[in-house]
Amino acid sequence: MSSPAHAQNRGLEHAPAHPVTDAAPAGPILAVSNVEVVYDHVILVLKGVSLEVPQGGIVAILGANGAGKTTTLKAISNLLKAERGEVTKGTISFAGERIDRLSPSELVRRGCIQVLEGRHCFGHLTIEENLLTGAFTRPDGRAAVRRSLEEIYETFPRLKQRRTSLAGYTSGGEQQMCAIGRAMMSNPRMILLDEPSMGLAPHIVEEIFEIVRALNARSGVSFLLAEQNTAMALRYATYGYVLETGRVVLDGPAKALRENEDVKEFYLGMAEGAQKSFRNVKSYKRRKRWLA
Ligand SMILES: Nc1ncnc2c1ncn2[C@@H]1O[C@H](COP(=O)(O)OP(=O)(O)O)[C@@H](O)[C@H]1O
Ligand SMILES: [Mg+2]
Repeated sequence: MSSPAHAQNRGLEHAPAHPVTDAAPAGPILAVSNVEVVYDHVILVLKGVSLEVPQGGIVAILGANGAGKTTTLKAISNLLKAERGEVTKGTISFAGERIDRLSPSELVRRGCIQVLEGRHCFGHLTIEENLLTGAFTRPDGRAAVRRSLEEIYETFPRLKQRRTSLAGYTSGGEQQMCAIGRAMMSNPRMILLDEPSMGLAPHIVEEIFEIVRALNARSGVSFLLAEQNTAMALRYATYGYVLETGRVVLDGPAKALRENEDVKEFYLGMAEGAQKSFRNVKSYKRRKRWLA
């Protein structure tokens, strides 16, 4: 399980080796292979990242601040240009087709949408107006959009209560729900969700992850979520990738990661035996078995 993420090592859980006779096993909805990202032409930030999201899966990218989680999501949704970043190597496929050169709006049309870190609702629009902005790429008309809106209100009762409030005056948790709800309005097959827990109280984080799980179960939408909150992410994801300085250093089913000693020590703050002390923190580099 501790092998680095290369495409050939995939398949611990979500891509079982089906016998050839199986009825057409679905390929992954997202496949990122050996992707390298450079900012400003010189700053190498992602150094060969590979990962997969199975159809209908919830997969987490874990790692500390600066590890490259946001860069990975933006590489997928083609939002790096605005940051003067560029994918310089590797391939990205969505639903079996290369998407490396598609614009973000074309990607949304195909069903892949990102919810940016920091929520980004339009503060001067109401919650409902915010939600409706998410439907602008849809070709299927008003009635269908209305139905989606009602579905979202069923999943997010808080948004229904707040539908006429200006988003700028709602709580952080409500804004995060609004951002996810707006993404759902595009009728996506996959949502890239960047740090949904950021700055929110633990019970609100839990509420948001429960919503992610409900959307996944109800609509079959796949999720790739970037999280520093490892404990929470591993409760809801089925599979995780640990990213450090632009490399996947560990990946595996969520359960295996939760039980992994290194993950416990470095990301869950549960050192075996003794309490974590500064001395342990200082030995961090030396003890990282996966980088040895
Ligand atoms: N626009 C940018 N220009 C240059 N470096 C950047 C830019 N955005 C991010 N970085 C650098 O890339 C690395 C990864 O950042 P990021 O993907 O935001 O990590 P994370 O989301 O895991 O916190 C960090 O070292 C960060 O300083
Ligand atoms: Mg980030």
